[in-house]
Amino acid sequence: MSGELSPIDKAKFVAAKRAAEFVEDGMRVGLGTGSTAAWLVRCLGEMVRDDGLRIKGVPTSTRTAQLAREMGIEVISLDEAKWLDLTIDGADEFDIDLNLIKGGGGALLQEKIVATASDQMVVIADVGKEVQHLGSFPLPIEVIPFGWQTTQALVEETLISMDVLGRNSTLRMNGEVPFITDEGNYILDLRLGRIGNARQLALVLNQMPGVVENGLFIDICDAVVIGYGDGRVEVRDINEGTVATDRLEFVETDNLFSDLND
Ligand code: A5P
Repeated sequence: MSGELSPIDKAKFVAAKRAAEFVEDGMRVGLGTGSTAAWLVRCLGEMVRDDGLRIKGVPTSTRTAQLAREMGIEVISLDEAKWLDLTIDGADEFDIDLNLIKGGGGALLQEKIVATASDQMVVIADVGKEVQHLGSFPLPIEVIPFGWQTTQALVEETLISMDVLGRNSTLRMNGEVPFITDEGNYILDLRLGRIGNARQLALVLNQMPGVVENGLFIDICDAVVIGYGDGRVEVRDINEGTVATDRLEFVETDNLFSDLND
């Protein structure tokens, strides 16, 4: 089965597998959303089943909650956990300062709330997510449905005075209808090309009444685990200023490699 994985899926898997080593017995862990985070949930499920790891997981989306339960991980709400030891999540882009664009899967609001309520946030990503400047990946912002077109116009107008290359945006669709987030909102994807001042942009966007949250994660991520298609992993810790490399073997197990469809 592992032979059927693409290099990018192998990269995601080894990043997730390595990051799972950060999880210790008794921890309250934020569980990210997306294809890389799904690998993590599967790895943690295996550790719960086979090694007796005891953790409480706080999922960042309904689909992660469902997967975590299927994998045998105890799921609790953020309010039950109150505070988390660690959150591990994917990203759409990360830069040298470990600032991120997230929300490609539409879960940015819960992801940011959960990551911010954690002692530590670790991002897991294949090497293709690393960028010099954030902004090639369209920046998702979550907006309330009421007056969304007016909010969109206001956002595009405001972008004129921001340090970005482009300012077109589109409503994210799910087939013929708007994509609806877990919180019942819409997503606008902003095609910015290059973001010159991500910190400023994040603050300005969140000042607009119709904007609930934006997908820029500034000073939230503590470490990134970067996976490569050949099994190499690199762990960069921004606080410690350390870089460590490792290599993981692909060990095929039915539990990890079957029915992964996120
Ligand atoms: C979900 O809303 C996102 O923030 C994901 O974490 C991000 O899109 C990365 O997803 P993949 O791991 O599927 O690339």
